[in-house]
Amino acid sequence: MMEATTQAEVTAYWNARAPAFDGVASHVAQGGVWRDVLAAAFGAGGPRDVVDLGSGTGACALIAASLGHRVRGYDGSEGMLAVARAAAEAAGLSVSFDAAVIDQAAIEPASADIVTLRNVLWTLEQPMVALAQAHAALRPGGMVLVSDGLWSVAPQFRSTYDPALAARLPWHGGLTEADARRMLAETGFGDARSWQHLFASPPYPGDVPMFVLSARKA
Ligand SMILES: C[S@@+](CC[C@H](N)C(=O)[O-])C[C@H]1O[C@@H](n2cnc3c(N)ncnc32)[C@H](O)[C@@H]1O
Repeated sequence: MMEATTQAEVTAYWNARAPAFDGVASHVAQGGVWRDVLAAAFGAGGPRDVVDLGSGTGACALIAASLGHRVRGYDGSEGMLAVARAAAEAAGLSVSFDAAVIDQAAIEPASADIVTLRNVLWTLEQPMVALAQAHAALRPGGMVLVSDGLWSVAPQFRSTYDPALAARLPWHGGLTEADARRMLAETGFGDARSWQHLFASPPYPGDVPMFVLSARKA
């Protein structure tokens, strides 16, 4: 479990940022492109059970719901979830958003077909615990989708923490695709498949190297 003060500091940061987050987030400007990428990664098929870990203002959760899936989102920050709930209501989408840190979220084991973690691994003190939670939440054959970037490449554009907090987060500088592939394999997922080639241009300012990977639970 993440150390209590570390998590409290992370959550306080996001509560403070919540009202203005969507105003600067590149996922808003690129919402349509992200929808296409997630739709491709999720693949064809009927409605599935999606769990979005570290939902924030709900970007991935809302896209998944708009694609017809049944979605549950979890985040430690009530402030971020308030924005997510308002966005879901405004869009007429039904998504349940629960305030919970990932490793304590009450997610029934083997209850999800897809688990998403976008731009969350970098801010966790124990990201492997979160990936284990994703693995446990999935049904056999289910898919985890992780996306993140090497945020240290463009510090002027990134969300940044107090240095003392940042020093306690192993991936505060960001992750490469190779890092994430290793972490997925170590968690027990099968071969990962990348999707970032579907972006016609880099989705983040500062040309931050980023990845979108999916991998299945055996
Ligand atoms: C950079 S935002 C990403 C939000 C969203 N996934 C997106 O792609 O827009 C990181 C989010 O992770 C959440 N978070 C950080 N640590 C968490 C934890 N241990 N459990 C749940 N959420 C957490 C923060 O509150 C914040 O909303």
